[in-house]
Amino acid sequence: MPGVHQLSLDALDGAVDGLVEAGIRSAILFGLPATKDEVGSENFDPDGIIPQALVRLRRRHPSLCLVTDLCCCEYTDHGHCGILRGDEVDNDATLEILGRAAIVHAEAGADIVAPSGMMDGMVRAIRAALDGAGQAECGILSYAVKYASGFYGPFRDAAGSTPAFGDRKQYQMDPANVREAIQEARLDEAEGADMLMVKPALAYLDVLATVRRETTLPLVAYSVSGEYAMIRAAGINGWIDERRVVLETLLSMHRAGADAIITYHAEAAAKWIAADARA
Ligand code: PBG
Ligand code: ZN
Repeated sequence: MPGVHQLSLDALDGAVDGLVEAGIRSAILFGLPATKDEVGSENFDPDGIIPQALVRLRRRHPSLCLVTDLCCCEYTDHGHCGILRGDEVDNDATLEILGRAAIVHAEAGADIVAPSGMMDGMVRAIRAALDGAGQAECGILSYAVKYASGFYGPFRDAAGSTPAFGDRKQYQMDPANVREAIQEARLDEAEGADMLMVKPALAYLDVLATVRRETTLPLVAYSVSGEYAMIRAAGINGWIDERRVVLETLLSMHRAGADAIITYHAEAAAKWIAADARA
């Protein structure tokens, strides 16, 4: 799919150079290991793909804010966001792995780790692990409010992270439930999150606005791969004015209360906004 691919380390340089030139100040990295296994070993390997990418990017772009997605599903052969016990994800065994991976990411130069697996207690466990390893300066952006959504399809195709069996409804949220979003946000704030995220964005603007009223932390909207796919495909086909629609949807996320937005349209949008400012 245009705009959603795997990048090797050398291709990463060019991709990130483009972002930085467009004025983007922060990037989030998703790691894809050479081999996947039951526990997702490369996730906490100091020589893994993410530590290598962090060292490389830090050298090339010293002031770029580097965020890493912290989860198991990209690394496990079964594609679930945690360690399995039978057919279920073992929440607490997963917390231990996430703590180890967070330390590895922070030591390689991550400014912020972003746990995305919706495990109970993940923020507290990661904060404790980081602090215990002398990484108190590394921040936590929690995927606090993450729904079990069909909009993650293109990402899972690219990452090879579609669950081998079952779905993610044991840990991701029911799209019909908004009160749980408030609860998740409050819990993560109390556990020591530095920023909270709502994901997906476009079909959940009401959730974004609700969470905005419940927290004083910076709030991030993640406009996910399926949102990008819809707009991009319609744009390529000439069915909509992509530039106009992208800027309108980003504005809607801002209006709903997002302080920052993660989007696959970042580079294009930054250029469009800069061009509008000059005009
Ligand atoms: C993994 C993760 C997912 C995304 C980010 N981190 C997908 C999932 O839950 O399968 C979605 C990203 C996207 O669609 O852009 N925990
Ligand atoms: Zn995951």
